[in-house]
Amino acid sequence: MTSAKPNVLIASSEVRPLAQTGGLAEVAGSLPGALAALGARPAVIMPAYQAVLNNRAAGFRDTGVSLAVPQAGQIIEGRLLRGELTPGVPVHLVACDPFFDRPGLYGYGGLEYGDNPERFAFFCQAVLAALPHLDRPTDIILANDWQTGLLMPQLLELGLDRPRGVFVIHNMGYLGLAPPGKWPVLNLPASYNNFDGLEYFGQISLLKAGLVFSRALVTVSPSYAREVQTPEGGHGLDGTMRHHAHKLTGILNGVDYQLWNPGADPFLPANYDAGDLSGKRVCKKELLAEMGLPPAAAGQPLIGMVGRLTAQKGLSLVAEAAEDIFRAGAVLVVLGSGEPVYENMIRVLAERFPEQCRAVFGYDEALSHRLIAGADFIMLPSMYEPCGLAQLYALRYGTVPIVRAVGGLNDTVRDFAGDNPEGLWDTGFKFSQFQAKAMVLAVRRAVELFASPADFQAMIQAGLKEDFSWNSSARQYLELFEKVLENTD
Ligand code: ADP
Ligand code: GLC
Repeated sequence: MTSAKPNVLIASSEVRPLAQTGGLAEVAGSLPGALAALGARPAVIMPAYQAVLNNRAAGFRDTGVSLAVPQAGQIIEGRLLRGELTPGVPVHLVACDPFFDRPGLYGYGGLEYGDNPERFAFFCQAVLAALPHLDRPTDIILANDWQTGLLMPQLLELGLDRPRGVFVIHNMGYLGLAPPGKWPVLNLPASYNNFDGLEYFGQISLLKAGLVFSRALVTVSPSYAREVQTPEGGHGLDGTMRHHAHKLTGILNGVDYQLWNPGADPFLPANYDAGDLSGKRVCKKELLAEMGLPPAAAGQPLIGMVGRLTAQKGLSLVAEAAEDIFRAGAVLVVLGSGEPVYENMIRVLAERFPEQCRAVFGYDEALSHRLIAGADFIMLPSMYEPCGLAQLYALRYGTVPIVRAVGGLNDTVRDFAGDNPEGLWDTGFKFSQFQAKAMVLAVRRAVELFASPADFQAMIQAGLKEDFSWNSSARQYLELFEKVLENTD
């Protein structure tokens, strides 16, 4: 074991609270604090998007360092900015206005930016160019998802002993594809442009770059580490994943319980804890009123959903199962943003069942807290789910998860078996098949338990006792970093 804790640079295309589209930002925003608490010295680096530059709280200043990056025969100039994520955790920004001073992170108005390969190839090279200008030498670069995949082969090309690259897969569904004609943009030798390198069915995959050329690979849950090695979960890269399985570990995401604490959550109309859940009833009443649902619905099971409205999240099942769910007496409230087809689908449901269904479209952090607190259940019928965070927040808020048994959902929820006479210790409801019928059965079981208040309360209490804080996961990351640094290959 090395005694000094490593200096870790977390490279991420989104970091809460500066820029966020999904759970990646929450992980990149909260893991640094957890690593620092264990004695490591983390720093974060991300692109200087428009929204980030407009955020004054982080106190960004221009360091005067210019970052020159070769790209397809030109030199592109960037700048290095510095601020603080939390006291003691530096956040470095790579600024390049033509690439990042835009309204969206990866696209706008429902369309991906066509130059995403150029934007993130630039970002990765700028990160490497920034290394000598950071506060301290970097031991480990922790890169996240396709946007930072290129860092792994680029690091190898630098030929340095340190930093060493660890790559985290938050979502295999986003392959970071580029047409083969964009190869010159990546500034990598042609020897990487083949099946053992970045080639993906005739295209280039930036995710695959991270996967193949990292020293170690992490998925955000143990179940997902297995699933990505199967044809169903591998998005065409399952063979590659099997080939690299020796360097793969599943480490569950943690929760920042300072941000997600029903006892002190400033977004809630009333606070509560395990000892006194009366505030949760106030949250439910207020949520119903906020959504314009009848007050009488307070006696009905309220199912909440919050997340990106994409195929991954299983919304097709919801549309198919809706009638049965409403017939069972449940009320459904959805908060999300994403693909128009799913927004329309949910909008139609809300119009057809005005007494039992409401939807809010857009990204609203405060409402997501009120929804998770006010609902009786949080439903995640995902097609696949690398980790999933909403079910973890739900457990802490006394809200029972109804989930499909995949990925992190499978690892973090214990299905109600109702067979332990000592009292309940199960924390939610799971179903396995990606079928509306299977989901309806789980919802019916949930509604049945809701009708039996003592048992339902016992399940809530079991969930409230769960601990998904970062502590144990951050330790696993540190152990992994130490292993990677000790390796002399
Ligand atoms: P993913 O990263 O696949 O989107 P996760 O469950 O890991 O899924 O994380 C999503 C996070 O973003 C959750 O904390 C969820 O509450 C939050 N979130 C997603 N969509 C919205 C939204 N429209 N408004 C507020 N929060 C949202
Ligand atoms: C991804 C996954 C989600 C995971 C999040 C953070 O976007 O879809 O399951 O929780 O990343 O790791």
